[in-house]
Amino acid sequence: MSKTFFIQTFGCQMNEHDSEIMAGMLIEKGYEPAKERKDANIVIFNTCSIRDNADKRFFGTLGQLKKKKIAEGENFTVCVSGCMMQQQHVIDTLKAKYPWVDVILGTHNIHELPTLLDNLYNEKEKQLSVWPEGGDIVEGLPSKRLYKHKAYVNITFGCNNFCAYCIVPYTRGRERSRCPEDILAEIKRLADDGVREVMLLGQNVNSYKGQGKDGLWDFSDLVRAVNDIEGIERIRFMTSHPKDLSDKLIDCFRDCSKLCHYFHLPVQAGSDDVLKRMNRRYDRARYLELVRKLREVDPDMAISTDIIVGFPGETEEDFQDTLDLCDEVGYDSAFTFLYSKRKGTPAAIAEDQIPDEIKHERFNRLCDSINSVSQAKNAAYVGRTVTVLCDGPSRRNSHKLSGRTDTFKLVNFTGDPELQGKLVKVRITSSNTFSLEGELV
Ligand code: SAH
Ligand code: SF4
Ligand code: F3S
Repeated sequence: MSKTFFIQTFGCQMNEHDSEIMAGMLIEKGYEPAKERKDANIVIFNTCSIRDNADKRFFGTLGQLKKKKIAEGENFTVCVSGCMMQQQHVIDTLKAKYPWVDVILGTHNIHELPTLLDNLYNEKEKQLSVWPEGGDIVEGLPSKRLYKHKAYVNITFGCNNFCAYCIVPYTRGRERSRCPEDILAEIKRLADDGVREVMLLGQNVNSYKGQGKDGLWDFSDLVRAVNDIEGIERIRFMTSHPKDLSDKLIDCFRDCSKLCHYFHLPVQAGSDDVLKRMNRRYDRARYLELVRKLREVDPDMAISTDIIVGFPGETEEDFQDTLDLCDEVGYDSAFTFLYSKRKGTPAAIAEDQIPDEIKHERFNRLCDSINSVSQAKNAAYVGRTVTVLCDGPSRRNSHKLSGRTDTFKLVNFTGDPELQGKLVKVRITSSNTFSLEGELV
């Protein structure tokens, strides 16, 4: 019997890429991807634990499979992976309430997935494999990319920063960097395979330290080397930590023609007191200095951020500092989050938790302010002609194509689907809060 699989991914780009790798390994073993979850006889949930609603959504979605699993037994396989699995309380809940799950696997050993499935089918026993810490980096795993023309490339794994609210250091382990030679060889292979845009991935790409044959490489060394790879046209990266953003990297924006002029620089809060208690290790002045330096290279550099509202102890005055900072920076876009308690993190046991109503009220004020700036930034594009890497038919409207500018603006336009993967010129005709409309020139 042929086996079909479907992977449902929650969370960040790192999880999306892990799902691409799991899909790549399964295809190599002869499994086939199913278009929809209902058609698959293996379902994999790759979970995220960043906020409480991510946890809740996972358990809700998992519950939907119970009936089918009970009815179909051995003919239907349920696997769960990702950040939630690195937490003992989640494993305990799964064992107690979802004992029908077949395979549980952690973030450090996704390469074991095919073996765990073999064991499940041969030994007829449920499989649980979660490593407490990442071992050596496993190189050479295949990947089934979502797009032919763009690719995610891991450069670091894990995080050492222990921001007081964040679960990631506990679910992804200590920071490890891949060797530059391995990264560059992978990107060359991708370029040969038609990839035009790479997104370099890490929880904090700025602290990349790769042991090369000729010594230690930092992130700016790596960016320069990627810029020299023939066939690659655009370089992006995600995410940056302000405390590690160096002048050497800012210089890359002057020298590296392929580096996109878009910088995602999470600030989290505008108040020095809150930043300190978050353990972010930069202050407001240092952050604004970085923004100034980036805009000095290019006044049109697009800048986006992440902001947490309602961190324990946040006063109205602290929140005003966040609003002021946003006004001062003028973000192209911002991801805003309600602070969510994560078990095991220092902030979860702080006594001065902020009541939900106050969090929501501040959140709404922040979104209004951010959105009006995003709208104005987008409106400034009307009349301009921009270069767009066409991603193919728009997800919202299949009669239109969509793609991104160098500055990561989403542009919708009409054209031949054959343009997918090509860089095209588009004249912007109108703007919305989160996207631009245009026509091919
Ligand atoms: N490594 C990246 C971000 C990883 S998580 C960085 O340091 O920038 C993405 C975002 O989720 C964070 O930037 C933060 O804004 C948000 N986040 C993380 N933990 C959170 C929590 N407990 N509650 C609310 N938002 C959180
Ligand atoms: Fe979490 Fe901070 Fe690490 Fe980002 S840098 S993953 S917010 S601990
Ligand atoms: Fe979520 Fe893990 Fe990413 S917690 S945000 S999937 S690193």
